[in-house]
Amino acid sequence: MNVTIIGCGYVGLVTAACLADVGNDVCCFDVDRDKIDVLESGGIPIHEPGLHEIVARNKAAGRLSFTTDPHRAMTQREAIFIAVGTPSGEDGSADLQYVLAAASEIGRHIETFTVVVDKSTVPVGTARRVREAIAEQVAQRGLDCMFSVVSNPEFLKEGAAIEDFTRPERIVVGCDDDVPGERARETMKRLYAPYNRNRERMLFMDVRSAEFTKYAANAMLATRISFMNELANLAERVGADIEAVRRGIGSDPRIGYHFLYAGCGYGGSCFPKDVRALMQTAHEYGDTLRILDAVSSVNAAQKQVLVNKIVERFGDDLSDCVFGVWGLAFKPGTDDMREAPSRVVVAALLERGARVVAFDPVAMKEAKRAFAADLRGEPEARARLSFVEDQMDVVAGADALIVMTEWKAFKSPDFDSLKARLKQPIVFDGRNLYEPIAMEELGIEYYSIGRPR
Ligand code: NAD
Ligand code: UGA
Repeated sequence: MNVTIIGCGYVGLVTAACLADVGNDVCCFDVDRDKIDVLESGGIPIHEPGLHEIVARNKAAGRLSFTTDPHRAMTQREAIFIAVGTPSGEDGSADLQYVLAAASEIGRHIETFTVVVDKSTVPVGTARRVREAIAEQVAQRGLDCMFSVVSNPEFLKEGAAIEDFTRPERIVVGCDDDVPGERARETMKRLYAPYNRNRERMLFMDVRSAEFTKYAANAMLATRISFMNELANLAERVGADIEAVRRGIGSDPRIGYHFLYAGCGYGGSCFPKDVRALMQTAHEYGDTLRILDAVSSVNAAQKQVLVNKIVERFGDDLSDCVFGVWGLAFKPGTDDMREAPSRVVVAALLERGARVVAFDPVAMKEAKRAFAADLRGEPEARARLSFVEDQMDVVAGADALIVMTEWKAFKSPDFDSLKARLKQPIVFDGRNLYEPIAMEELGIEYYSIGRPR
């Protein structure tokens, strides 16, 4: 099939590369000229394991192309995916300006029946607005070209995006119950057939339910994490170990082991914004999602938990202290810094006068950009933040090491060398990477999340 993907970000590029890899002719369209230039010259604008190889081989095979030309991208295509960002607006609702701009662009260029696939995470009712935006443009051109808008939310995780896309647990598709909708349903079946072997993974439903499903899934996962974080904080107070508790409850299949890790709060481009957007949808309908209110505020507080421990240990004035930070990305396997807990912790330390030396295996470029934006207007604080290229340089002369992201490279460090380099052998671990007893034996003062000291 010939397919276009609008938006070459984490979702768009993965979708494009994977669909090309199973034989489709895929064109990627983005308004960001720099991104398209990078892709055309053989680079990749994001870090996602395995993606570079798939993009390269499909580009070489002529199945994957990149353009900023909407006419080239949008005429004579069987399906056009919208995979642009839906960031939080000022009130927390999803900002649909990019989705609707993409829809209008589609309306300006389609010529034959086209299935428009909404892959961006969008509130209930967006497919209708997308349909109206396309129809308005099509009508202005005096055409009577048919199209159908389907909702096909994406459930991939950054860092495991290729695996998630090519071996999905489910493929949710919301279609209209009319003739174009039926045609769209068949197109989606054909497109996803390579990922739908052995067992049926496609879940067809009405469009509004498909849109809602995406928010419900992210809200459920965020709720699990915030609940585990609250339990972890209580476990600390009562002298229990949240890691033992996690294993104890996860073994019940009704609960399961996934997404039960306590830590320094969830970040990323989706959980925080999608929780806010769902709460805002509820407000629009005169309702309140009380649990999600709590999920969100517990998470904001959890991002401060390490700061509280540091202040308790070193005092509120940290102007004589140097802290080394391992891990800046919101999770391992990605260079994404959106809503990363490290941004909150580093900002809080700088605010208290500390010097911070930071390292991340892949997110350094994004991190520098993110902190430059966060610290705009605060040159003095910014001067106290530095980045090093070697993880062991972070700890040289530092008063303590702070672990923010559970990258593999941090899991079994040379503790003797760590101790020798640190000014004081103190570790604050936001991801529970190490065993408290082992750390005690090593003579390292160790603070983690939800475990006895
Ligand atoms: P992103 O910010 O990485 O990429 C979005 C891209 O869209 C950018 O390259 C931008 O230049 C481009 N764009 C914006 N407006 C455009 C327009 N009018 N025409 C063409 N291109 C345009 O975003 P992302 O992380 O890939 O997320 C995209 C959507 O997918 C969001 O709704 C998000 O919630 C959802 N989602 C993301 C993930 C994830 O892991 N990142 C997973 C599932 C769902
Ligand atoms: C999340 C969902 O897992 C995807 O299914 C969804 O498609 C995506 O959001 C989206 O809609 O964009 P992602 O944000 O890439 O994926 O990363 P996750 O692995 O879910 O982690 C999110 C945050 O939760 C990270 O900060 C991570 O450290 C934290 N987390 C995760 C925990 O604190 N504990 C856990 O047990 C799991």
